[in-house]
Amino acid sequence: MSRILVVDDEESMRELLEIALGKDGYRITGAASGAQATELIDKGSFDLVISDIKMPDMSGVEVLRYVKQTDPGIPVIMVTAYASAETAVEALRLGAYDYLTKPFKIDELKANIRNALEKRRLKEEVVHLKRELKHKHGLDNMLGRSSKMLELFEHIRAVAVTNSTVLVTGESGTGKELVARAIHVGSPRVSEQFVSINCGAVPETLLESELFGHLKGSFTGATTNHKGLFEVAHRGTVFLDEIAEMSTTMQVKLLRVLQEKRIRRIGATEEREVDVRIIAATNKDLEQGVQDKTFREDLFYRLNVIPIHLSPLRDRRDDIPLLAEHFLVKARESMGKNITKIADEAMEILIHYDWPGNVRELENVIERAVALEVTGVILPERIPDKMREFSDASEIDDGSADDEVFPEEGVDFTERIASVEKQLLSSAMRQAGGVQTKAAKMLQMNLRSFRYLLQKYNLR
Ligand SMILES: Nc1ncnc2c1ncn2[C@@H]1O[C@H](COP(=O)(O)OP(=O)(O)OP(=O)(O)O)[C@@H](O)[C@H]1O
Ligand SMILES: [Mg+2]
Repeated sequence: MSRILVVDDEESMRELLEIALGKDGYRITGAASGAQATELIDKGSFDLVISDIKMPDMSGVEVLRYVKQTDPGIPVIMVTAYASAETAVEALRLGAYDYLTKPFKIDELKANIRNALEKRRLKEEVVHLKRELKHKHGLDNMLGRSSKMLELFEHIRAVAVTNSTVLVTGESGTGKELVARAIHVGSPRVSEQFVSINCGAVPETLLESELFGHLKGSFTGATTNHKGLFEVAHRGTVFLDEIAEMSTTMQVKLLRVLQEKRIRRIGATEEREVDVRIIAATNKDLEQGVQDKTFREDLFYRLNVIPIHLSPLRDRRDDIPLLAEHFLVKARESMGKNITKIADEAMEILIHYDWPGNVRELENVIERAVALEVTGVILPERIPDKMREFSDASEIDDGSADDEVFPEEGVDFTERIASVEKQLLSSAMRQAGGVQTKAAKMLQMNLRSFRYLLQKYNLR
């Protein structure tokens, strides 16, 4: 039952609304003045406020302001006998939900109330779902539900609170930068800077100055003193992306800084102490680099204190539907399109493709599909042709399921079985339109076992 606060100095008006809205099941509380209203707002929890504008002690606009300060989510509908464009504009600007002129039709007010409450409910639901999604399937901005990712989240949580240097490896687009940010966000350094530099993108001659700073006049073009990123990130985190691209000369300089925890700006004589946490990332094989003598062994060991490896997306296909839905929501919001889902057939293609560009490629494919889609559902036609071939090929593979091709490291039996279970459960739920009894029946299962499995796999 929604609780509505009616603020009006006229008793007849309060009574009228109490009777008319009470009939619809709303619980009405009346306030005869602005002062009384603010008192009630402090005490009670209201779902909506209806306020007159002209009152002797305090104007309705002030009541509105008060509500918005207390809880900006509560919708406020303003009513007034003296329609003035300025007050209306002012009220809407301050966040009033709507503005009605007396005498108004009670049905008009009721429709307004219904819409306002519905909008509020949806907003709360979205906030709730987002929080739940994040909690269940993610860390900071990273999503994942595969056992690989869930383990990774645990690992990141544990590593984040330490001060150790981390080396993040993984193919391009697997989320290395997200890992670095998640570590910073989960660390006691969160209130300080996270600075990121792509060692491959900065010309070698500038990298030293970028990292450690320089003094005015220390080289041609150094027209002012310049603070390096290590100083900017003091007490925070420095993210050295594409570390394999760093020249061997810079590697030596970096190693020195890591050992001594002091930096010297180019051209300066004195050194400064810096307290930074280092996270480095690469999509190259650094150990190979050490063997090939392109990467210094001593620096490698300095960086590789805590290695974190991100699996390619094709090795954690369970994450694909979750990520695809997430990117769908993101793209449709930014493009203002009303696309509700990805058709099962399209999702099949996504699940089977081998994703050389990993999560970034998936994001791009979804964004493109959302841009091209004219119906309310992402159809298989919107997925690039080249991706379909994988799905055909895998169907042929499925035909000879006996011939499992085992990768070198083997196959995680439990995970494989779990993913089949999950797949069946979600398909059944989807096809049953979310009706659990129906879905359970489709799997010849009793409702209790079915619910148990839903819970086990965090499926709704
Ligand atoms: N688990 C995830 N959940 C949500 N988004 C993700 C996830 N992993 C990656 N992304 C998104 O994919 C894109 C690529 O991620 P990121 O830049 O972290 O990858 P990377 O490993 O640093 O790639 P590169 O080696 O090319 O620099 C980003 O837009 C990122 O937000
Ligand atoms: Mg990156």
